[in-house]
Amino acid sequence: MAEASVVKVEKNGGISWVFLNRPEKRNAMNPQLHIEMDGTLEELETDPETKVVIIAGSGGNFCAGQDLKEFFRGLEDKPAESKRIQTLANRWRWDRLYMYDKPTIAMVEGYCAGGAFMQLVAVDFVVTADDALYSLSEVNWGIIPGALVAKAVTEAVLYRHALYYACLGDAFDGKEAVRIGLANIAVPKDQLRDETIRLANKLMQKSPEVLKATKQAMRSVRTMDVPQAYDYLHAKNIAIRAGDPERSYQQGLKQFVDDKTYRPFFEPFKLSDAASKDDNT
Ligand code: COA
Repeated sequence: MAEASVVKVEKNGGISWVFLNRPEKRNAMNPQLHIEMDGTLEELETDPETKVVIIAGSGGNFCAGQDLKEFFRGLEDKPAESKRIQTLANRWRWDRLYMYDKPTIAMVEGYCAGGAFMQLVAVDFVVTADDALYSLSEVNWGIIPGALVAKAVTEAVLYRHALYYACLGDAFDGKEAVRIGLANIAVPKDQLRDETIRLANKLMQKSPEVLKATKQAMRSVRTMDVPQAYDYLHAKNIAIRAGDPERSYQQGLKQFVDDKTYRPFFEPFKLSDAASKDDNT
């Protein structure tokens, strides 16, 4: 009999909800979960129905990190399998998500531990319940924040706080996650889903091409020097004008300068107008 799926996908109104689905194990990530997450994210990246991906956990918890029994102990004497799963685990938690073509959000409630900080930092935005509990627990059970966890955390979190929580392993809540730069928004748990959907809907009002280029540019320039950044951003702007099916640049200018139908300071241009071909811009 085929193994029960440990990843659940629900599609609704342009949002694809991806649930880590091992609630009885607090959604700890076992090898099977890594295999399924990698395949799921690959598929959704080019799925026409999917405009935004939200990663969440089933049963009231985000993710208890790597599965200590199946991922660590279970792979100890299987070097080939261990290498294969580690590669997949890193690919979906970092490589895929970091430069994902579509906007991504993590919706965090309950526990979020250790290895789950990789996907937490790699997604674009984090909406958290203010009573969610986070822990870089590695130091408490005898390892360092491995794979890319230490690097991911220092990328997102103010350095002193990163060092503090990695070395102490103390649990902290959703409000503290916002304060130190790990999450964007903390809300009471009963508002978590609505707040996450609100953010997803705002993202869906933007031009997908411009949004993709913006998030990728923001990430890419972090490791560039100034001359490289000037050059890259110039080239990127030309690239999106040339390859944008929405013709966002022309539409944005037209709707503000000629039609006076919106103000970019407060809102995006209207995507529905962008699809019309009745102008010569
Ligand atoms: N790996 C393997 N199993 C895990 C797990 C993990 N990371 N996290 C939870 N589980 C399992 C428990 O072993 C238990 O299994 P069982 O029912 O077969 O005994 C089940 O999930 C429920 O866990 P439990 O500890 O009873 O639930 P809780 O709600 O009291 O506590 C946690 C939840 C997350 C606080 C606690 O399980 C924990 O500390 N987990 C380890 C978290 C961690 O350090 N992860 C970092 C890995 S990189």
